[in-house]
Amino acid sequence: MNREFTNEYLQKKIGTLEKEVLSLKNAFITLKESEEKYRQLFEKETDSVMVFDAETSMFEDVNVAALNLFGYSEKEFLGLKAIDIFAGKEKKIKAIQAAIENGAKRNKIFFSRFVKKDGSIFHGAIYAGSFFSKGRVKIFGAVRDITEKKETEEKLRKSQEQLIQAQKLEALGILVAGVAHEINNPINLIMLNVPLLKKVWHDCIPFIEKNAKLNPDIKYGGLTYDFLNENMDQLINDMDMAAKRVESIVSRLKDFARKSSFIDKSEMSINDAVNNSLRLAQSTLTKSKIAVKLNLSAEVPRFKGHLQSIEQIILNLIINAIEAIDHDRGEVIISTGYHKKDDSIYLSVKDNGAGMAQSDLKKIFDPFFTRKQTKGGTGLGLSVSYSLVKAHDGEFLCTSTEGEGSLFTVNLPVAHREKPIKILIADDDRAMQNLIERGLIKERNYIIKKAFNGTEVLVNLGIFLPDLLILDLFMPQMNGLEVCQTLIKEEKLSKMKVLIITGSPESEELKKIQGFGFHNILTKPFNLKDLVKCVDNILFKENL
Ligand SMILES: Nc1ncnc2c1ncn2[C@@H]1O[C@H](COP(=O)(O)OP(=O)(O)O)[C@@H](O)[C@H]1O
Ligand SMILES: [Mg+2]
Repeated sequence: MNREFTNEYLQKKIGTLEKEVLSLKNAFITLKESEEKYRQLFEKETDSVMVFDAETSMFEDVNVAALNLFGYSEKEFLGLKAIDIFAGKEKKIKAIQAAIENGAKRNKIFFSRFVKKDGSIFHGAIYAGSFFSKGRVKIFGAVRDITEKKETEEKLRKSQEQLIQAQKLEALGILVAGVAHEINNPINLIMLNVPLLKKVWHDCIPFIEKNAKLNPDIKYGGLTYDFLNENMDQLINDMDMAAKRVESIVSRLKDFARKSSFIDKSEMSINDAVNNSLRLAQSTLTKSKIAVKLNLSAEVPRFKGHLQSIEQIILNLIINAIEAIDHDRGEVIISTGYHKKDDSIYLSVKDNGAGMAQSDLKKIFDPFFTRKQTKGGTGLGLSVSYSLVKAHDGEFLCTSTEGEGSLFTVNLPVAHREKPIKILIADDDRAMQNLIERGLIKERNYIIKKAFNGTEVLVNLGIFLPDLLILDLFMPQMNGLEVCQTLIKEEKLSKMKVLIITGSPESEELKKIQGFGFHNILTKPFNLKDLVKCVDNILFKENL
């Protein structure tokens, strides 16, 4: 008998084996428990979880959430390969590669489009990783549907874009008001002087002619009498035309910069505006042989608007539509209608012209954006129309497809919101300004803006459009008197309500201002009660 197999030895061996069996049993129990845990986790997971074999790419496990998301039964799902749940062939392969790669690197999130059993597609985020099982690499992925998140992001992006556009236009408005103001005076000077120059030239002709007869070689500015006689009139007329063109651009720029309050709105019909605009565009339409189809709803209610402004918008849209049509099957459809849901009316102008690139769509409402440089386009039509639509609290939309045509839509609210009252305080003394501001805000719900000098006052009159201007008589750059002089010259500002504040009631300036018809005066020092009473009187006495 082998010495080794003694009783003692066997006892010991059995003891060790028992221990090993026990530890194996424990390991088995632990494994079972952990598999149980894994199963529980797997099934409880609200994300869709699935496992596939890295080599065959066949699914080997899937949880209920995944079955619900993709719409398959478990049997169907386990018959699929990983690529079957990805949308877009090339992307599928890339996505799988990424899954494996990311899996190998462990636990990465990436985004893809997935396809459900019914063929519908959704955006998903996938969290992928890998593990070893029975000597093979397995990939697991947890997919979450993020379509809603994506849509929210897209909406947010769009509204941010609109906000940026609106802010850009507001900033441009300020700039434009300033520029228009600067250009107006010099151009007026040119326009006034050109006719004088023409007259002077005509009066000089006989003398120059006489002189030329005596001395045929004589030149004026290097030009002969014959040349001058033939061309001078044309030269002067060209100057006149050019100046008038600048003037018309300036006046349209001012329209662009100036928003609503000064436009008197009254009850009007959108269909009347369409018909009036069509009459204005008639000759251009006849020449172009473009068919106009009218789709005017009889159901549209009247609304508060400024007829000429609405006509200007429609006319711009019609002219643009005509100009966009470059074939002989041209058709423009003008429609109006009423949206009961939000109590708004709509106007749309659709053409089957050249359309435009998507990149242009973002720029068409910018002043000076034009693709018609060579044909005399100014790029102001749509930007002016945009500010007119905004002045009616409306919305301006455009869709367009290159080669197919464009659709412009204007939505206008029928009922107007009560607008808060806006007050501009012009005073170079900041302490005084703050005092007035605090007093008015405390007592009344006014919107206040402050200007520190005459130039700021003028810019804000055009942009902020106050209902009342509280004006200090003495300010740097341009004093109260000069501001008032400008007010009465500008037709649309001449009805501006003004409260003059002054410490010198006997001054010459004040007398002149009163002579212009500004009679609301508050003498310093005053208390807040007096101020509020005075402001209320001015703002509301007309309505009492
Ligand atoms: N109906 C349309 N179809 C295609 N492009 C258009 C249309 N309306 C406007 N556009 C584009 O928008 C630009 C700006 O239009 P607008 O502000 O009216 O200025 P303008 O007509 O002087 O160019 C046009 O030059 C054109 O490129
Ligand atoms: Mg135009």
